[in-house]
Amino acid sequence: MRNVAPTLLTWYDVHARAMPWRVPPADRQAGVLPNPYAVWLSEVMLQQTTVAAVRAYHDKFMTIWPTIADLAAADDADVMAAWAGLGYYARARNLLKCARAVVDDHDGAFPQTNDALLKLPGIGPYTAAAVSAIAFDEASVVVDGNVERVMARLHDVHDPLPASKPKLTALAAKHTPTIRPGDYAQAVMDLGATICSPRNPACGICPLRIDCAAHAAGTAATLPKKTPKKKTPTRKGIAYVARNSDGAWLLETRPDKGLLGGMLGFPTTDWSNDPTPAPPVDADWVTLNEVAKHTFTHFHLELTVMTTTTARTPTRGFWVPKADFDPKSLPTVMRKVAATLRHD
Ligand code: ADE
Repeated sequence: MRNVAPTLLTWYDVHARAMPWRVPPADRQAGVLPNPYAVWLSEVMLQQTTVAAVRAYHDKFMTIWPTIADLAAADDADVMAAWAGLGYYARARNLLKCARAVVDDHDGAFPQTNDALLKLPGIGPYTAAAVSAIAFDEASVVVDGNVERVMARLHDVHDPLPASKPKLTALAAKHTPTIRPGDYAQAVMDLGATICSPRNPACGICPLRIDCAAHAAGTAATLPKKTPKKKTPTRKGIAYVARNSDGAWLLETRPDKGLLGGMLGFPTTDWSNDPTPAPPVDADWVTLNEVAKHTFTHFHLELTVMTTTTARTPTRGFWVPKADFDPKSLPTVMRKVAATLRHD
């Protein structure tokens, strides 16, 4: 198969999506490179998350912390609160670790190569490749779910993911150009997000239609194949919502390890088949006829909500005054718990 980079770049010159952190192709060709901090932030946010969901969060972060030095100096709790609702909270903890390493060990300037970026805490192969390509025009091989799908279709690969990852990465490497590698990386991802979409790919308007082996075979919409996942289990727990006589809310910061590590939330039991009651304050608890349901990557969670009003001293957590309570600073599952209550 011929190399598709020239065709994709010509397509991208006309159809590149506008994004706040992106330098449009005409400006890049005039020698303008993007702000590495803005690119890195966008690529961390875009993992497992759509461009539509990321835009507002990226704007917010760039407004509150306009430089990496500002972010490195931020309070952990403020960064976690600003990330609330984006999910995959380990990304926010790693973001801070990385920002602090860039400031402490690299004078606040991102290293420019894939290899050097990989040495930073919280930067994995995808982020190192994406940042070195997009921010510094290194010919790194950038492979996300979009690129895997485009390669599986272009080469009509029927082996299922995830086992086919190395093969799809090798194919992606073959097409990666040394001319305009940053635009190329963004072009493949834009193609995968718009035309070569998971369902109903728009093959009729695809610039790679003539090259695409799956299009020729009529298999595009069925690829990439995936090894079936085990059924998603359901775990249960209790969320404890306590208020005091001033209307303050009892919240706790979850320990750094784990799914919601470092996030603010209502105290809960463990999440399991058979959770052990663990009320954060000795009080008369009432079970609501409400369950907050939320799906994480590997399981569904059903939190039964219990409430109390108490003047007693809690054994864990802290009181957040009514005026300071903002469900938007809580992860989505905790917002759902708050939404089960009628409150003022
Ligand atoms: N998805 C993740 N990163 C992207 C990028 N830089 N351009 C387009 N889509 C993306």
